Amino acid sequence: MTQGTGEKPSRIRRILVSSALPYANGPLHAGHILEHIQTDIWVRYQRLRGHICTYISADDGHGTTTMIKAEELGIPPETLLEQMKQNHVRDFQGFHIEHDNYYSTHSEENRILSERIYNQCLQQGHIHTSEVEQLYDPDKQMFLADRFVSGCCPKCGAPDQYGNNCEVCGASYEATELLNPRSRLSGQTPVLKSSKHLFFDLPAFTDFLKQWVDGPAIHPSIRNKLGEWLTGGLAQWDISRDSPYFGFLIPGYKDKYFYVWMDAPIGYIASFQNLLTRRADLDFDDYWDAEKAAAAGTEIHHFIGKDIVYFHALFWPAMLKCAGFRTPTRIHTHGFLTVNQSKLSKSRGGQSFEIASYLKHFDPEYLRYYFASRLSPGVDDIDMDLSEMARKVNSDLVGKLVNIASRCAKFINQHFDHRLSAQLPLESEFERAVAAGSEIAECFERADFAAGIRKIMALADDANEYIQQQAPWELIRNPETKDHAQAVCTQGLNLFRVLILYLKPVAPRLAGRAEDFLGTEPVSWANLEQPLLNRSIQPFTPLMKRLDEKALIRRMAPPPPPKEPAEEGSGLIDHSRFAEIELKIARILAAEEVEGADSLLKLTMDLGNETREVFSGIKSAYKPADLTGRLTLMATNLKAKKMRFGVSEGMILAAGSGQKIFLLSPDSGAEPGMSVT
Ligand code: MSP
Ligand code: ZN
Repeated sequence: MTQGTGEKPSRIRRILVSSALPYANGPLHAGHILEHIQTDIWVRYQRLRGHICTYISADDGHGTTTMIKAEELGIPPETLLEQMKQNHVRDFQGFHIEHDNYYSTHSEENRILSERIYNQCLQQGHIHTSEVEQLYDPDKQMFLADRFVSGCCPKCGAPDQYGNNCEVCGASYEATELLNPRSRLSGQTPVLKSSKHLFFDLPAFTDFLKQWVDGPAIHPSIRNKLGEWLTGGLAQWDISRDSPYFGFLIPGYKDKYFYVWMDAPIGYIASFQNLLTRRADLDFDDYWDAEKAAAAGTEIHHFIGKDIVYFHALFWPAMLKCAGFRTPTRIHTHGFLTVNQSKLSKSRGGQSFEIASYLKHFDPEYLRYYFASRLSPGVDDIDMDLSEMARKVNSDLVGKLVNIASRCAKFINQHFDHRLSAQLPLESEFERAVAAGSEIAECFERADFAAGIRKIMALADDANEYIQQQAPWELIRNPETKDHAQAVCTQGLNLFRVLILYLKPVAPRLAGRAEDFLGTEPVSWANLEQPLLNRSIQPFTPLMKRLDEKALIRRMAPPPPPKEPAEEGSGLIDHSRFAEIELKIARILAAEEVEGADSLLKLTMDLGNETREVFSGIKSAYKPADLTGRLTLMATNLKAKKMRFGVSEGMILAAGSGQKIFLLSPDSGAEPGMSVT
C-alpha cells in the first residue's frame, strides 16, 4: 500500500482563517457567497487533515453608508447592524458555511483593540496630523465623501458625474474640482472646508513591506501589482473622519472617528478574541503576538477579493508590524464574479442571482461544487455560467460520482444481503485511488480547487470504467464468478468512499448521506487506507438529485436589460421603451449663433427649476431673436452629448428638416418643467 497519504500529518498545524468582512449596509450577493464558500472549503479540508483550523468573519458595520442607510430607514445604526447580521448569518448557514465566530466590527472588543493598535502606532511616532480641504455640506453639516458629491466634469462638462471620475470622458480628478458641485444628500452646493486629519505613516514601512510582499504570504499573481505600488511610492494613509460618522471615536478627540478601513481588519482580531469566551483551547497571544506566534508556529490566512488587496497587503501588515502584532501567513485573493456575464449589481431592477431565492429552490452543494470547480489561486475573474453549472453538477456529481454507488449497491443489496466481500479483488484500483490523494491534497492546500476537482473526476471516470469492464451484471449470472461480482462491487463502493472523502470539504452533506449509506463512521484521511470489508451497507437511496437547468436559468439568470431591441422585422417597440424618455415643457431663455457651426444654435433652456444648454440644428429656420421666450418640448434625461462647440444637455423637439423646420410648442397655459405624458 502506498505510504504518505493516509497517515496522520506529522505536525498538527494551528491555523486561523478569515473571509473578508461584508459591509453591513446591504444583503449578501453571490460574490460574498463565492468568497465564503472558497474559505469554508479550505477550512474543512484542513480540519479533515487533522489540523486545528479556526474560521472567523464578521459584518463590517462602520462608515457613512451605514449611517445614512439607517437614517433613511429611521432606525438607529445598531438596529440596522443587528438585522443585517441575522440576514447574513442565515444566508451563510444556508450554504453550509461554518464560521467558528461571525461577529461585528461594531463591538467592544474591536473598539479596545483599535485604540490599542492606534496608541501603539502613536507611541512609535507613526501617526501624523495634517490639514485636509474637503467639500462640506452646510445643510447636513458634514464632510462629503467623494461618492456623495455630483457635478459637472471639469474636463468635458458632462453633468451629473459622481465623485472623482467622469463616466463620459473617463477623466479622473479631485471631487473638489467638479463644476457646479451638489451634495447628493441634501442637493445643496457644498463649500470647501478644511479640517485636521490623522495619518498613518505608511511610507515608513516601505522596506518592511517590500520584503514581506516578496515572501510566501503573497501569491505571484498579485506580487507585480503590489511591487508597482511600492516602487511608485506609498502615501500617508488618512485614518480619520470627522463627525458625524458611525464608528469609533479616536482617543483624545471628541469629533474624530477612525476611518472604517482602519478598524475593519482589526475586526478579524476582535472576532477571534470574542470567540475565546467560548473556546478555552485557543490562546490570544499564540495567534496574534509577534513573538509568541512565531514561537508557536501558528498561521493566519486571509481570503479576500482582488479589490481589497491594497488594504490587506500594505496597510494591514504595516499596522500590525508597527503595533507589535504578528503579520499574516498568506493572503488568498480571488477575482470578481459575474453571473451570465452580468455584474452583481442591483441596478437593473433586480439583483442578479438572489441568494434567498437560490436557497429556497436549489441544493447549496450544487453551488459549492460549481464554485469549487472554477476556483484557482489566481485573481482571474469568474463568470458563472448557469448552463455550465447545471451540466457540471449533473454529469460530475450525479452522472459520475453517485453513479458508482448506485451501480454497485444494486448487486450488493440484492444478491449479497447488503454485505460487502471479505477481501478486495486482486486489481489494485483502490490503492491507486488512495495514492492519488497526495496530489489532490496539494491542490486543496494551494486552494487550487479546480485542479483538485479535475483529478477527483478523473478518478471517478476510472472507477466507472473499471465497473464497466468487470461487468458485475454478467459475473453475477455464473455461480463460479458470482463471488467475484461481490468483490468488484465492494471495490467500486470503496472507490466511491475514497472519492467522497476527497470531495467532503466541497459537499459535506452529500458526504454525510454517503457515510450513512455505507454505514460507516465519518470518512477521514486517517482511516482512508482501511477499505470497508465484510460488513453491511444500507439499501441505496438516491444521494443527489439532478439539477434542473431550465429552473435554474428561469429563477436565477440576471434580469434582461430593459432596452429590448425592436422586434425583429416589425419595427415596433414596447410602450415601456417610449416611456423611458423624459419629455418636459421648456422655455427658450436665450438663443445665439455658434461660431463655426452652420446649422446649430445654442439655446439656454428654462425647465422651471433649472436651466440647461442645448445645441439644436434649427439655425436654417429660425433667427435667434425670434426664439427668445418661446415654449417648446425638450427631452431631458439624455446623457450629456459632447460636441465640438460644447456640451448639449438635452434635445428640443421639432418637425421637418432643412429649411422647413417647425419647432413643437404646447398650447398656451403650459409652464416650463411640466412633464409631457
Ligand atoms: N468591508 C470590506 C472588507 C473589509 S475586510 C477587513 C468590503 N466589503 S464588501 O462587502 O464590499 O466585500 C466583501 C468581500 O466580497 C471582498 O473580499 C470583496 O472582494 C468580495 N466581493 C465583492 N464583490 C464581489 C464580486 N462581484 N465577486 C467576488 N467577490 C466580490 O470590501
Ligand atoms: Zn468628463
